[in-house]
Amino acid sequence: MAPDLFLQRIAGNLSRMDKIINPAPFYLLLSVCCCQVLAQAPEQPQTYGIGRTATAAEIAAWDIDIKPDGKALPPGSGTVAEGEAIYVAQCAVCHGKEGGGGPNDRLVVHSAEEPFPDASNEDTWRHRTIGNYWPYATTVFDYIRRSMPMNLPGSLQADEVYALTAYLLHLNHIVPADAELDANTLAQVEMPARHRFVPDDRHKYQEVH
Ligand code: HEC
Repeated sequence: MAPDLFLQRIAGNLSRMDKIINPAPFYLLLSVCCCQVLAQAPEQPQTYGIGRTATAAEIAAWDIDIKPDGKALPPGSGTVAEGEAIYVAQCAVCHGKEGGGGPNDRLVVHSAEEPFPDASNEDTWRHRTIGNYWPYATTVFDYIRRSMPMNLPGSLQADEVYALTAYLLHLNHIVPADAELDANTLAQVEMPARHRFVPDDRHKYQEVH
């Protein structure tokens, strides 16, 4: 209870008691209570004494997001064939052979003509994949690098991520079988859903960063 509310209640009780008995001892009690309540009121500390300032190296390790235009893509490269070998060893157990039929998300469209998912159509909406829904190829790289394989995120080297991205884009009919991706070529890949999204430029609501 807030100290002032506590004191108000005591004062209210005392004023009712006034009518029946000598109030002097109770005012003494009230002043003792006041002192105790005020002494107990916690002071806001300058610091809670936990944590420390992150080091530049720690911030750099977290600061790995890739922009849609490929800004911040690391050096390195990988081919579709290299990606297939890594996929079989580290991804197929959850995502299935060639990107489908596993216990987790389907990563590949059913056909090259699979349409953009329609939110009002349960059937197509369930089939949102990299190939028909993701607007930027660079996001595939970013996502795999930061979060896959799900049991060991952050374990893949840049070359491996380029290779896996190349393999998955190939399975999605977006790059040819002999494609080799690096910072330059990946940023140039145009995804089928590229023009299905627009930047959210509403300024009506409070922005949360
Ligand atoms: C232990 C199981 C597991 C393994 C292994 C795994 N994934 Fe995943 N992956 C998941 C799960 C679960 C999700 C869905 C995560 C979510 O929706 O938050 C996912 C999501 C994805 C997605 C996003 C799919 C989408 O359309 O939203 C991609 C891309 C992906 N994984 C790629 C990979 C690659 C590449 C590998 C191998 C390096 C890999 N995954 C290994 C479990 C796994």
